[in-house]
Amino acid sequence: MKDKFLWGSATAAYQCEGAWDEDGKGPSIWDDYCHSTANLTGITGDVSCDHYHHFKEDIKMMAEGNQNTYRFSISWSRILPKDDHVVNEAGFRFYDELIDECEKYGIVPNVTLVHYDLPDYIGTWTNPKVSDEFAYYASVVFKHFGNRIPLYATINEPSHNTACCYLIGNYPPNEHNMQHFVECAYNMAVCTAKAIREFRKLNLNSTIGVVHASGASESLADTPKYLEAIKYSNMFHNDWVLDPAIKGYYEDELIEKVKSSGIDLSFVKKEDLEIIKDNTVDWIGQNAYDRNLVKPYTGGETTATVNNRGDNDGTSKSARESKIIKGWFEVDRDENVPLNKWGREVYPRQIYNTLLRIKDRYGNIPIWITENGHGQYDIADENGYVEDNERIEFLNNYLQWILKAKEDGVNVRGYYVWSTMDLYSWINGYKKRYGLVRVDYEDGNLKRTPKKSFYWYKDFITKYKDI
Ligand code: BG6
Repeated sequence: MKDKFLWGSATAAYQCEGAWDEDGKGPSIWDDYCHSTANLTGITGDVSCDHYHHFKEDIKMMAEGNQNTYRFSISWSRILPKDDHVVNEAGFRFYDELIDECEKYGIVPNVTLVHYDLPDYIGTWTNPKVSDEFAYYASVVFKHFGNRIPLYATINEPSHNTACCYLIGNYPPNEHNMQHFVECAYNMAVCTAKAIREFRKLNLNSTIGVVHASGASESLADTPKYLEAIKYSNMFHNDWVLDPAIKGYYEDELIEKVKSSGIDLSFVKKEDLEIIKDNTVDWIGQNAYDRNLVKPYTGGETTATVNNRGDNDGTSKSARESKIIKGWFEVDRDENVPLNKWGREVYPRQIYNTLLRIKDRYGNIPIWITENGHGQYDIADENGYVEDNERIEFLNNYLQWILKAKEDGVNVRGYYVWSTMDLYSWINGYKKRYGLVRVDYEDGNLKRTPKKSFYWYKDFITKYKDI
């Protein structure tokens, strides 16, 4: 597995498992949120595509599609349902069987410990106990699975998760609070470091990383003001996750900038910074969605919006993503770059620029492209088959830039399409689909039908399997 380029696809526990309260699982914050009146859509992941009961079929299909790796996440509250540190053996049994199935087909598991779905007894990422609790959970998982999981990742997308919880406010706890935003980000860095400390104690052959969301920052001009906006945007979106994870420390300039924005950093502890220094990652998971196109800050309060309605028709201003970080930067718009229905740029070159920035800043750290995918409203024929040509074009264009980055010396080791099959897309529900395989949510059996992109990807893997 060490030198082989891995080709696969990805999911996350809350988005696909269903079985939200089965076999002793405790509630996560997403269960609580989706069942509460705060969830205005009323849509939940209670069943979703029911991977919990369909995983054999799903993994068999991955193997039929030539995929040799599967990225999934473990539901923390399936393993530790209550705050008493008592393990739910049935939770382990599910993932044991899932990994058995992967091994049967030679599919390498790449496992993220938490993908947004904190147990409800933890509550929020600002809970001062979160890093010790996470380290405990991580150690239980490492001891149980050991080398059966060659690739562990601590947290999915600290930057995006933090932004959704505390800036945009579309994920629980639905706040607009920069103080909590910074505390959450810091706690996530400490969580990663403390989990890695547990991991190293076991001397496994496996490796451990963190999965990062944000792309490199860019601008439409290169005046000193614009270059400064790029610098601040990179500090905000990238450096505060990747610097502590890879280098083991925050740059002074970042700390000063955060302080000058009025954030009280009294929660930072010297002993945490020591743990961060001594416990860095082996690799980075980079998710490939969009870049950060920015311009200098001109005015206004800190605010960020996204379009969870999927009604961007190419004209509606309200459909676009927006962001102002007071005193740092603002998001810009390039009229030459198309937007998807959810107002996000479709700009494949961003992944090349992102990978080169990581290489320039951090040397040749191994990188897995842990997610790349295109949300769209799929239309199926009477047999459930989807001709998703737009998705194929999207993935193909991104892949060309990823292969170019590899040729240009970036240490890219593998690639995962988001997602293995259709699943719950958080606030976007089920109509926004990403899967290589269609799930029929209406037929009572959650029937799976591979889409055109599944077969396209299968051929792509055949062509590039020995790179
Ligand atoms: C990634 C997340 O940021 O984006 C996934 O890791 C998510 O969990 C994916 O589903 C697509 O975002 P969305 O909101 O369209 O589902």
